[in-house]
Amino acid sequence: MSIKKIGVLTSGGDAPGMNAAVRAVVRSAIAMGLQVKGIMRGYNGLIDGDIIDLDIRSVSDIIHRGGTILYTARSPEFKTEEGLQKAVETCRKEEIGGIVVIGGDGSYRGARDLSLRGVPCIGLPGTIDNDISSTEYTIGFDTAMNTAMEMVDRLRDTTQSHERCSVVEVMGRHAGYLALQTGIAVGATSILVPEVPYDLQRDIIDKITETQKTGKKHFIIVVAEGVGEIHQEVFKIAGAIEEKTGIESRATILGHVQRGGSPTVRDRVMASEMGDAAVQLLAKGIGNRVISYRANTIVNDDIYEALAMKKEFDYDMYKMAHRISI
Ligand code: ADP
Ligand code: F6P
Repeated sequence: MSIKKIGVLTSGGDAPGMNAAVRAVVRSAIAMGLQVKGIMRGYNGLIDGDIIDLDIRSVSDIIHRGGTILYTARSPEFKTEEGLQKAVETCRKEEIGGIVVIGGDGSYRGARDLSLRGVPCIGLPGTIDNDISSTEYTIGFDTAMNTAMEMVDRLRDTTQSHERCSVVEVMGRHAGYLALQTGIAVGATSILVPEVPYDLQRDIIDKITETQKTGKKHFIIVVAEGVGEIHQEVFKIAGAIEEKTGIESRATILGHVQRGGSPTVRDRVMASEMGDAAVQLLAKGIGNRVISYRANTIVNDDIYEALAMKKEFDYDMYKMAHRISI
């Protein structure tokens, strides 16, 4: 089946580099003689018919911008059969023959449902959490890690001056990839991730007191938000450290600053390559697939297979971080 017009949308939590991906999709499609429509606010735009024309210049000056010019949303209605049917009807009316969906695995499930109903979709991994099983890398991860690292570097200055302990919450409600690599990059004394249960005494208090004996005077503990009670655990941990060690402690939640900012080289290039790869498939009428990055190569997978894959947490890296944080 040959496709003449495609759509592109961003869905779920935004991630730096989504704009670069939209730009690549638009430019690549137009270069291949396709027309492109921008679908606003994720799947909501399909339900409401909120759709714009995208030409070559409409994506000028966005490669360096965080967020998404198409806006993003979570759409509960799209998960219902009625919502899906409205979306299919919009595609028919707008003569949209295929869609590039940029988002996380929730968005992939939506892309699967649309493909099943005759609108071929290609998923692109866009989330700062790097928690999509089929791919070793998701657009936005590098920028978010660098942002978190810079923020913790700033915290380190004041933590060092006051000889305190800073307990920092980074994003990652279900995954510790961001916390792990940020924690390594800032030289954290302990890194807590949802994948590994922690023991306050063994993993934090004992580590602090042991490193104190060799002259360490300030401490950084990095905690993924998926550890314990969200937005509360860092305060509990800081209180417990103060009580058990006498070291003055402060809790900081980095929050949504981690989702913003200008994308790094890695995110811009990855987004460009992935966006282009998605269009190459759609142009051939191929849908129901996702773009993935494995072993330094851009590949593509069947959506069902991608969603069924399991991603192992990098326990070796986690153990290494523990070894060198003495
Ligand atoms: P992400 O794509 O970042 O994982 P969400 O999980 O919030 O973010 O999913 C984004 C949107 O994708 C949802 O608002 C919904 O419209 C759609 N979606 C999520 N899960 C499903 C599902 N199981 N079936 C169909 N659509 C889904
Ligand atoms: O983008 C993924 C993520 O950052 C998670 O780590 C976090 O739990 C979630 O989004 C929070 O998103 P929101 O505040 O937009 O619901």
